[in-house]
Amino acid sequence: MSKCPADFNFFDQQVLNCPYEFYRTLQEQAPVYHLPGTNIYMVTRHADIKKLLKDTEVYSNNFNHLLKGPEPAPEVTAIYAQAWQPVDTLITADPPRHKTYRTLVNKVFNAKRVDAMEDYMTAIVHELIDSFIARGECDFVRDFTTPLPVYVIADQLGVPRADLTAFKRWSDSFARRLSQMATPEEQLEDARNIVEFQMYFADMIARRRADPRDDMISDLVTTEIEDPDNGEIRPLNMEELQSLLQQLLVAGNETTTSALTGGMVSLIQNPAQLKELQEHPEKIPNAVEEILRMESPSAGMWRVVKKDSDVHGVSIPKDSLLMLRYHAANRDRALFTDPNALDIDRANAEEHIAFGQGVHFCPGAMLARKEMTVALRALLARLENFQLIEEKSDLGYWPNIVLRGLKEVHIRFSAR
Ligand code: HEM
Repeated sequence: MSKCPADFNFFDQQVLNCPYEFYRTLQEQAPVYHLPGTNIYMVTRHADIKKLLKDTEVYSNNFNHLLKGPEPAPEVTAIYAQAWQPVDTLITADPPRHKTYRTLVNKVFNAKRVDAMEDYMTAIVHELIDSFIARGECDFVRDFTTPLPVYVIADQLGVPRADLTAFKRWSDSFARRLSQMATPEEQLEDARNIVEFQMYFADMIARRRADPRDDMISDLVTTEIEDPDNGEIRPLNMEELQSLLQQLLVAGNETTTSALTGGMVSLIQNPAQLKELQEHPEKIPNAVEEILRMESPSAGMWRVVKKDSDVHGVSIPKDSLLMLRYHAANRDRALFTDPNALDIDRANAEEHIAFGQGVHFCPGAMLARKEMTVALRALLARLENFQLIEEKSDLGYWPNIVLRGLKEVHIRFSAR
């Protein structure tokens, strides 16, 4: 007998690890599903999500206040009080305010700058492969997919290599805070890390203001914006700079790591396609789109419902939360044939919405695509006979409903 939505608990780790039956059940029976016991409505069909994303007036990104969860312990609040308080710039801002900051980030993240990074990315990728190739095996997440995006974004921001360990620690704390699954001890640790991040960048901002260079922070501190409240032309203030830097730091790391990790696992599990890609590296860009479709590391995004609305006959009261499930949409049978199978030649792979769509479409998409392409090109050119070391890789996912990623993957290979 086929299952119904109530047979699944979305928050159960088993369902998070393998949600495909749940997604299909929802898409067929309850495309807008009220998660029991919550004020969350989950949307899983590709066409519905695309439509909802256009209506930024009713479905708002201004979700910071609703996601705070239970009041943190006073010690945690006291630590955050030492630094700059969050302001809504990109991901939690709605138009027209959002446009002020987005125009700036689009300028800083331009195609010329991303294209100019290819040689640097290629050098990093080879350096990482050099560090483990002689061993014949590696912890793919620790040795390759984690450091790669951290090195790239740190370099773009102008952070020296010597500070990269701290940089990764800060990034992990931001991601854990977002997951809302931290223990009280972890919340304290995250607060300390986040304040340390803010102090580090406040110092760097001051130095770049005095002595600008060719990096993104210098661009951000030297540009002016039109104040979204009073129209005054002025430089970004410290709260705005901190908010933008945090987002550039957090949004690109976990996501790119997870896309590459999941993609490599899928390829190893599909040896014929892996071989095809090795023999035809010109197919890598389409394979990257297919991997993004399959993995969708930003698995779901929030929207706040600003007024009572109705989707597919489901009444959604004002102040409810929508969970737009990009990961489910990218496995929607209405658009993708045999959606749970990897197909590097899939003709419509790039119709995925792994980077979202509309005004919040990921500004790092070009950078992430390039990183993935450069990484796969080098891995497939230099290594072969890939195998998963199963006893060391349980293929479990992090307990996080927003960001999806494998915790640990060990692989074996030989040099080509
Ligand atoms: C595979 C890698 C990546 C994936 C899957 C991804 C996914 C996404 C998605 C789905 C959104 C839209 C969120 C929404 O609908 O509300 C988004 C926004 C964003 N992403 Fe990415 N991203 C990736 C890499 C990056 C990188 C490398 C950066 C920067 C270094 C970045 C920076 C951002 C920022 C700042 C936003 C907010 C944009 C706005 O609200 O206007 N992302 N990303």
